[in-house]
Order: sequence, then structure tokens, then C-alpha cells
Amino acid sequence: MINIIAAIGKNNELGKNNDLIWHLPNDLKFFKEKTTGKTILMGYNTFLSLGRVLPNRKHIVLSFDKVDLPSEVVQFNNLEDALEYIKGDDVFIIGGASIYKQFIDKADRLYLTLVDDSKEADVFFPKFDEKKYNKKILGNNSDNGINYSFVLYERK
Ligand SMILES: NC(=O)c1ccc[n+]([C@@H]2O[C@H](COP(=O)([O-])OP(=O)(O)OC[C@H]3O[C@@H](n4cnc5c(N)ncnc54)[C@H](OP(=O)(O)O)[C@@H]3O)[C@@H](O)[C@H]2O)c1
Repeated sequence: MINIIAAIGKNNELGKNNDLIWHLPNDLKFFKEKTTGKTILMGYNTFLSLGRVLPNRKHIVLSFDKVDLPSEVVQFNNLEDALEYIKGDDVFIIGGASIYKQFIDKADRLYLTLVDDSKEADVFFPKFDEKKYNKKILGNNSDNGINYSFVLYERK
């Protein structure tokens, strides 16, 4: 099962200057609930942005170069090897933009936090065909006066 998880703005904003745009503690809690105990796969920029290994999750990081990563992180330098490695696993694709783009057509489920706000950004979530998914609202929340919904898109 390939799951994508992301928080996106009204114009599909994802981040700026290799950082998140909003600080949404309840969304981080949701992210933690969904990914704990699972495999998480990310691009090298997102790993740098996190700045640490998250507890109780197997990490896979993609980088074209050989980069110095903590020993518990599994590294691949191409998509094909990563796909082979995750076969049959319940994996969460956690970003960033370049990784979402490569996985959007392969994902079975999209856990999207739709943020009811728009901000300047330099990376965006890829466009996808909503008609190919069943949409379910899992809940609504807000932080710092910003409203957002947890939405699950399951491939038909
Ligand atoms: N809103 C959200 O939910 C969310 C979630 C995650 C991230 N973000 C934001 O997204 C931004 C980062 O996104 P990004 O697109 O700049 O970077 P990214 O996708 O995290 O990482 C890009 C890097 O991953 C490596 N890579 C990508 N595809 C690869 C492949 N097929 N094989 C091997 N390596 C590959 C390359 O690393 P090398 O250059 O080392 O070769 C590439 O430069 C940040 O602003 C972050 O805060 C937002």
C-alpha cells in the first residue's frame, strides 16, 4: 500500500525555503498518528528540513548523490530501487514536491490536509485527477486561527 501524506494550501502550496509554510500542531499530531510504526519515504531536502530521524518509523531517503545519513536511514539513489524495496510494505510518502510528483500516479491513498489559507510558496503539490478517487473527510481542525480538513482520497 502506497500512501501519500501532505498538508497543502488552497493553491497546492507545500513549502518555502525548504521549510513548511504553516505551523499546525494538530496536523503534526495527525501525521504522527498515521506514520508511527510505518515506513516513511522522503527526498533528501525533506530529510534536511526535518533535521532528525523521527522516532518509531523506518526512514527511506532518496538522493542522487551519496550523502551522509544516520546509519538507521535506508538510502536509494533512484526511484526503481526504492520501489522494489517498498513492495508489499505499508509505506507513507512524506514529500517533498519532487517526491510527491514521482509517486502521485502510484499511490493508493492520499491523506491530504487541506489548509484553508494561501501563502507564498516555492514548491507545490502536483495536480491529480480527483475523479479517480473516492473522497472522505476524516475531520476538521484549526490552529492559530487557520482552519483545515483531513481528507482521504482512496483510489477507485
Ligand atoms: N506541506 C507538506 O506536507 C510538506 C511535506 C514534505 C515537504 N514539504 C516541503 O517540501 C519542500 C521540499 O521539497 P523538494 O521538492 O524541494 O525536495 P524533496 O522532494 O524533499 O527532495 C528532493 C531531492 O530528493 C532527491 N531525489 C528526488 N528524486 C529522486 C530520485 N528519483 N532518485 C534519487 N534521488 C531523488 C534529490 O536529492 P539530491 O539533490 O541529494 O540528489 C532531490 O534534490 C520543503 O519546503 C518542505 O518543507 C512540505
